[in-house]
Amino acid sequence: MHGYHPRENARLQDQAGTLVDLLHADTAYPPGSVVLEAGCGVGAQTVTLARRSPDARLTSVDISADSLAQARRTTDAAGLTNVQFQQADIFALPFAAESFDHVFVCFVLEHLRRPVEALAILHRLLKPGGTLTVIEGDHGSTYFHPDSRAAQRVIQCQVELQRLAGGNALIGRQLYPLLVGAGLEAVHVSPRLVYVDASRPDLVDGFTKKTFTAMIEGVRAAALEFGLIDPEAFDTGIRDLYRTAEADGVFCYTFFKGVGRKQSSATRATLPS
Ligand SMILES: C[S@@+](CC[C@H](N)C(=O)[O-])C[C@H]1O[C@@H](n2cnc3c(N)ncnc32)[C@H](O)[C@@H]1O
Repeated sequence: MHGYHPRENARLQDQAGTLVDLLHADTAYPPGSVVLEAGCGVGAQTVTLARRSPDARLTSVDISADSLAQARRTTDAAGLTNVQFQQADIFALPFAAESFDHVFVCFVLEHLRRPVEALAILHRLLKPGGTLTVIEGDHGSTYFHPDSRAAQRVIQCQVELQRLAGGNALIGRQLYPLLVGAGLEAVHVSPRLVYVDASRPDLVDGFTKKTFTAMIEGVRAAALEFGLIDPEAFDTGIRDLYRTAEADGVFCYTFFKGVGRKQSSATRATLPS
């Protein structure tokens, strides 16, 4: 599971720093609103959410006590006082229905065996008229120059391992049907393309190398153990991914951000029974 190890934590922090504007520029919660962040991990998104909505009150939950401790250290170091952390399982959250004005979930559904059920639970926690925001990646959206079948093959190893663990590394493309299926209204999904060439050294380093390629490199042992690939082919694929970070290389990846609203009481009242 992502988010548990120091190296993985550093990767998530790098990823969050590099992608803040792309992913968060259109998310700010009004003063006084009560917001749930489900699966906050080490707090990589929490810091941005809390900073961008200084007068909202954030409750950030995660199933991992170690990640929460790290998240708390990070928000304390940032001087944020509008976040409280709580250890909880998304499938057994200790909150009453309609407790939150808004809910935010990032890079969590991809790891869950039952993402539809998770969204239905989060939907129930929203007050009428509240919003549910979900951000997910989709590894099938990866393309690059120079093109390389070996590189695509190592990415496929990660996709397959995540599938074997009960997750879905291709979930970004499904956000619209998932949110609609969970009962949300006015669902809008926007693709967020990360385009990286040598004119953006921050993204070459922070995204192509330290986020994406580091993540794929991290599954080497598991991919070999499951017999998905042999060591030489894996190392060639990783070398080709790093090759895209050179002066003439280009790397593209698309995140998906979906926002849906819970039906308001006014709308409900005017609907024919
Ligand atoms: C890839 S991390 C993403 C963390 C954070 N949202 C971010 O964007 O950096 C996924 C997180 O989901 C958490 N998680 C997985 N299953 C969960 C569950 N059933 N309930 C609560 N948290 C869960 C993991 O502990 C992990 O911290």
